[in-house]
Amino acid sequence: MLTDKQNQLREIKQALRQGGGDQAVGRQHAKGKMTARERVEKLLDPGSFVETGLFVKHRSSQFGMEDRQAPGDGVVTGYGTIDGRPVCLAAQDFTVIGGSLGEMHADKIVQTQELAMKIGAPMIAINDSGGARIQEGVDSLAGYGRIFYNNTKASGVIPQLSVIMGPCAGGAVYSPALTDFVFMVDDTSEMFITGPQVIKAVTGEEVSAQTLGGSMTHNSVSGVAHFRATDEEQCLLQIRQLLSYLPQNNAEKPARYDCMADPNTMIESLNALVPSDPRMPYDMRDLIGSIADGADFFEVQPLFAQNIITGFMRLDGQSVGVIANQPRVMAGCLDIDASDKASRFIRTCDAFNIPLLTLVDVPGFLPGTQQEYGGIIRHGAKMLFAYSEATVPKVTLIVRKAYGGAYIGMCSKHLGGDLVLAWPDAEIAVMGAEGAANIIFSREIRDADNPQEKRNEKIDEYTQEMMNPYIAAARGYIDDVIMPEETRQRLISSFSVLEGKRSQPIPKKHGNIPL
Ligand code: HXC
Repeated sequence: MLTDKQNQLREIKQALRQGGGDQAVGRQHAKGKMTARERVEKLLDPGSFVETGLFVKHRSSQFGMEDRQAPGDGVVTGYGTIDGRPVCLAAQDFTVIGGSLGEMHADKIVQTQELAMKIGAPMIAINDSGGARIQEGVDSLAGYGRIFYNNTKASGVIPQLSVIMGPCAGGAVYSPALTDFVFMVDDTSEMFITGPQVIKAVTGEEVSAQTLGGSMTHNSVSGVAHFRATDEEQCLLQIRQLLSYLPQNNAEKPARYDCMADPNTMIESLNALVPSDPRMPYDMRDLIGSIADGADFFEVQPLFAQNIITGFMRLDGQSVGVIANQPRVMAGCLDIDASDKASRFIRTCDAFNIPLLTLVDVPGFLPGTQQEYGGIIRHGAKMLFAYSEATVPKVTLIVRKAYGGAYIGMCSKHLGGDLVLAWPDAEIAVMGAEGAANIIFSREIRDADNPQEKRNEKIDEYTQEMMNPYIAAARGYIDDVIMPEETRQRLISSFSVLEGKRSQPIPKKHGNIPL
């Protein structure tokens, strides 16, 4: 038999959990969106969610707010588990004043971030909000500031995931931008600093909200987002999948999974992967799929800067971050976007103790005024910095081309690659044979009776002499030249021997990565 006070508690909680009520929930569903609580329940292990701050109320008394009920102040916060491991989360409730962020709403998020940092658990923020609660003025802005501050404090300490499941506009976009991974859903997610109306008023440009800041835009054009889902359910699954590759915090290693496959298996199909003509492309994903446990590769930013591939796989159960040139797109050369994408990924992996595997087939940096004016020097430098700074185990496999500065940049021994392997097809040189022969034999070619024949002869000569892995191997820049079929076995062995790697960087406040 419950007491009156106990019954009252039940009733209050039940009422608060209704959020903005049936009508608002109906409108949310009609847009193809779940409510905040439905999202949380679906994301977490069944029954694991524990809510905090349900009773929090706003303190605003202007513009009619004094009479306005706002259950949970428009955000559901708490903790729960994913695959049995704790996570903290805040899910904005659009059914309550459009999920707008006021003083107490922000305070709930801030307290959840702080809990996540204290217990060393990932922080997941689900954004679905009209932005700063206009009635609360500067208190709303202060709230955003506190969230950004904590995002920065937590950076590199716990994984921070931002999930955009509705509007996220104005300065509000900067919390996701400060976090490690941004997820978006087709048609319902929107992120922009200034919306279509403001753009039209200021510049006259007409653009729809989706074209301006929808999931395709931020996944394929701007590089702001890392994952795109066709619906919310798929998005929530992606979050669970991503977390399986990450540790709980920077003091831990990622969980190790059982792998049934024999680590010594030879993969003969790899012997035929690289075409004999060095100008012919192939799909680097075929190599990644062939060597990964269960052929599983969880790609990060698959639609952005597709000339470089980033993502997670497991090798003999161990989580590994992969950075790979993609010969199928722009011949796998490095440009501004590829450099940014790879650098950010390298630093994310290093922060969270995830070893790095670099697969190299790179003809160089993309030439052109667009790249130079856009600052490829500054952006490319990020990669050199990120690789050199990373202290996790770094294993590099040179599959085919490794030319010039791009060879150095793709985690060569010179940037601290711990073990560097090469296939027999590897070509490690300052540049391709044709370009090299044209420069160093220019006089002989010009003076020859048949310049074209001479050029071909010199290209052949240069190819024979230089376009192989053995010169670099003779200098000790390559640890071994291996048969393609041995790749999985040798990579497993490399990461296994590097598991206890120790590094003691010189103490400093922090490096000054070129931004
Ligand atoms: C207060 C808000 C609100 C806001 C929405 N609502 N946004 N209340 N402050 N920012 C309320 C609406 O009044 C409405 O209340 C309810 O939420 C649902 O909103 P609707 O407009 O009916 O929903 P919808 O048609 O789906 O449109 C959603 C929307 C629109 C596109 C987000 O509401 C909108 O444009 N809102 C304003 C967005 C904005 O300009 N925000 C400030 C951005 S600047 P009722 O009572 O009808 O249920 C910013 C600065 C951050 O955020 C700076 C950080 C440093």
